[in-house]
Amino acid sequence: MILSQKILTWFDKHGRHDLPWQKNPTPYRVWISEIMLQQTQVTTVIDYFERFMKRFPTLSKLAHAPLDDVFELWSGLGYYARAKNLHKTAQIINTTHKGKFPTDYDAVLALPGIGRSTAGAILSISTQQCYPILDGNVKRVLARHFAVDGWNGNPITLEKLWQHSEKITPKNRVKDYTQAIMDLGATVCTRSRPKCTACPIARSCAAKKLDRVKFYPMPKPRAKIPTKATGVLMLVSHKHKCILLEKRPIKGIWGGLWSLPECPLQTDTKDWCTKTFKLTLRTTHEWEPFRHTFTHFHLNIHPIFCEVRDQRKPKSIGLNYQWYSFEKTDTLGLPAPIRRLIDKLKSLNQPTSMLSNTINIIEEVS
Ligand code: ADE
Repeated sequence: MILSQKILTWFDKHGRHDLPWQKNPTPYRVWISEIMLQQTQVTTVIDYFERFMKRFPTLSKLAHAPLDDVFELWSGLGYYARAKNLHKTAQIINTTHKGKFPTDYDAVLALPGIGRSTAGAILSISTQQCYPILDGNVKRVLARHFAVDGWNGNPITLEKLWQHSEKITPKNRVKDYTQAIMDLGATVCTRSRPKCTACPIARSCAAKKLDRVKFYPMPKPRAKIPTKATGVLMLVSHKHKCILLEKRPIKGIWGGLWSLPECPLQTDTKDWCTKTFKLTLRTTHEWEPFRHTFTHFHLNIHPIFCEVRDQRKPKSIGLNYQWYSFEKTDTLGLPAPIRRLIDKLKSLNQPTSMLSNTINIIEEVS
């Protein structure tokens, strides 16, 4: 069975057949419904559509109404530019198409607020002309079924999806098929947790075969982001089983959280700690650096283990620094990579094993 036939057989049993715009699907009624459905869910649109049709049963009534009346009936649907376009388009049709909604594809496409997919939906549903559609739901179905790589916003990817849509749109029952593929995307091939076991075309779905359904459609590629680097100090007093933490400034990354103090790279850590914290270090050892990725940059973190030479309990160093016993750090809200470093420190009960270490944090995202 060809793809469209499988979708239609599924539609006959599981699709939506009693939507108000499916009754008496004139180009005018289908146009109104498609514009309402552009950014709004079917369940919300139903009542709005019924009220709109009661007030503006014909295109001429819409064209001659004050814009405020259209806005009033649109109130709550949002995206008021759609209502404004609808009114303007009705007036254009009234003057240039003698009040009759055009049924020629190019004429429909030339109207304000109507793109390729909406034109296809209006004409296939209201006149059974064979035009493909490609709304958000359909893009998802096709991207998965044909494992179309790339982001939908990329013109090359978009064109590939249009080609698939054109190829599978049938000449027969095109009205039902248009509704069917939209319903399939809305109810089965959903964005999260798609119901592949209920899908009539799962057997030929390329993404499913690859076990990569959740990776399609592919997201917008992230812009290239810069890489920064920093040293983080694990200043530890073994004698007193505590570690120095720094409260981060409220603004900026990890704002307001306790974290490990940072120090510039390529400086003598011992000198820097003496100058900054008035601390004398017994030893310093660099651990393996690792990367933490934020939305706007990568941060290469170079952990430096420092053993403090101390006889007495370390003194406090201003308000933003505090010595914490390892136990107490458990209850603090710490940034994820810092928490891992401290947990690693705690797990190494032999002081000497703290001297060098590889932490397996490869990539994570904040
Ligand atoms: N979204 C856009 N057009 C639709 C339609 N005709 N049915 C359901 N959802 C839609």
